[in-house]
Amino acid sequence: MTPTGAVQNSKITQMLAPITLITGGSRGIGLALADRFALAGNDLLLVARDADSLAKTRQHLLARHVDRRILTLACDVTGQDATELIAAKVESEGFYVDILVNNVALWSYEPIVTLTATDIPRLIGANITQGITLVHRFLPGMVSRRHGYILNVGSLAGAFPAAGSALYSSSKAFLATLTLALQRETADTGVSVSLLLPGVVATDFTQAGVISNQGRSNILFKLVAIEPAAVAQAAYLGLMTKQGVIVPGLAAQALRVALMMVPASFAAWLYAAVSPWLFGVPTPKASINHTAPDVVSVPVGE
Ligand SMILES: NC(=O)c1ccc[n+]([C@@H]2O[C@H](COP(=O)([O-])OP(=O)(O)OC[C@H]3O[C@@H](n4cnc5c(N)ncnc54)[C@H](OP(=O)(O)O)[C@@H]3O)[C@@H](O)[C@H]2O)c1
Repeated sequence: MTPTGAVQNSKITQMLAPITLITGGSRGIGLALADRFALAGNDLLLVARDADSLAKTRQHLLARHVDRRILTLACDVTGQDATELIAAKVESEGFYVDILVNNVALWSYEPIVTLTATDIPRLIGANITQGITLVHRFLPGMVSRRHGYILNVGSLAGAFPAAGSALYSSSKAFLATLTLALQRETADTGVSVSLLLPGVVATDFTQAGVISNQGRSNILFKLVAIEPAAVAQAAYLGLMTKQGVIVPGLAAQALRVALMMVPASFAAWLYAAVSPWLFGVPTPKASINHTAPDVVSVPVGE
């Protein structure tokens, strides 16, 4: 016998239409994913902070996918009410979330000691908390419909300790573990959960950190970086075929295998050694100049 809640849910979903929610869908990998999902016939809700760039993205996508409904919401996903704002938008427009793509993340390339006190919760909020909150909000509906997909955008950086991006790499390791656990929790529910592990992708992402134009023109960067469209294609196919872990591109696949074979401490050392060539700047390190705010210098003799 079907539980009453499920009957009510199925009645509601008869009137609503499925939508693909992509956080950070205005540019980079999020935009490429939006394009790929729209090509497959999905309506979209794209969330990002900048309303102008969302509007431009919407026009760009509508020109390519005339029959699709493309909704946008200008919202900082780290805000306390972000999840409810997103849910309200979805419902008021007559949709339910059938595919959730947790794509937003923040990156920085500096030692932890130079981050401000507000940088730390902001980065953890963007890279960890917001994704979990969205899963918590939309997974129950997917389970009751016995249908849905969740794509968590991780990074190969989660597979090794990255000096200069310690919070980023550890947040992506957290996300990877969380996603694999979620796969087990959703087994046999009809909901499929995948982890996307890109290597280096040619987007604006790294400009918020320190990857300079010098780094961008670096041969190593050019050798390993792939285009967002290639990531989106692999992600879409992987998600639809229920792959647990999706690693786009040969360079990232080879690196992932190599990382599985070496101790984390060696990978950390190698990354710190290679990153100046990759990024065009020295590996960030804590130094004596980075005085902690609670250290007060006491004159000798007092
Ligand atoms: N690029 C790479 O090399 C690479 C490699 C591995 C993994 N990844 C992962 O791929 C994902 C996307 O990276 P990307 O390179 O495509 O980034 P990107 O080009 O910088 O795009 C970031 C997107 O997220 C939005 N965004 C950022 N902060 C937000 C916030 N607080 N609230 C709402 N929206 C926000 C941005 O729009 P607004 O600025 O308007 O908010 C933009 O749409 C991330 O999870 C990243 O860790 C990237």
